[in-house]
Amino acid sequence: METDNCTKLTIAIDGPAGAGKSTVARKVAQRMGYIYLDTGAMYRALTLKAIRLGVDAYDGVGLAALCDQTDIRFTTRAHLQGGQPKVYLDGEDVSTEIRSAPVGSLVSIVAAHPEVRERFVRLQRRIAAGGGVVADGRDVGTYVLPAAEVKIFLTASFAERVRRRHSELLAAGRSVSEEEVSEELSARDRMDSERPVAPLKQAPDAIMIDTTGRTIDETVCQVLAICSRRTGNVVSDC
Ligand code: DC
Repeated sequence: METDNCTKLTIAIDGPAGAGKSTVARKVAQRMGYIYLDTGAMYRALTLKAIRLGVDAYDGVGLAALCDQTDIRFTTRAHLQGGQPKVYLDGEDVSTEIRSAPVGSLVSIVAAHPEVRERFVRLQRRIAAGGGVVADGRDVGTYVLPAAEVKIFLTASFAERVRRRHSELLAAGRSVSEEEVSEELSARDRMDSERPVAPLKQAPDAIMIDTTGRTIDETVCQVLAICSRRTGNVVSDC
């Protein structure tokens, strides 16, 4: 697709948990002055509400009904002022709680229901309409925004993803062992890749970046270079 210097790209970044998607996506959005859309946060927020209200994670119809009575909002521009993106569930800031262990262990089950995905995909497309967006998730390039001009599939070796997720959790004050993290990641990988609806897979036109042994900034620069080939703008400081 042809783009010019003023074109606002739609950038889709997909990949497995722990590949560095959210940090890379946020930094790319910051550098480009684009909005950042964390699609996984929607599934996490609904999972949190389901836990609180006792709705079964396997009950797709119940979750869809819950979704219809739920208001999920994001700050899609906070990163532009150097802030952390925030997620609000029915007006309450749940940015930290959606990363908790109970949510992490159920979110893949919640996200596998077509009735739930349908609702969130509609919302994701609405937020991304107009371009100038970096969206990260599992099915952004394959299903949510198939016309995205830039599609990246970010991955890393399993051992590295476990190490990164483990240090993230320790830094957030959670006391978990590397074995527990490894079990959770492999269960999530399996559920996200094997589900029948919008499974995690690389879009045929996505560029794969293996972040094993690379710093976040190196990966950000690589993505920016790919974007600059689309817009013709030169990337500085890389
Ligand atoms: O990216 P994350 O770890 O916050 O995502 C949480 C879960 O949500 C993940 O296990 C799979 C699901 N998810 C999804 O099914 N589709 C997306 N576009 C984003 C996340």
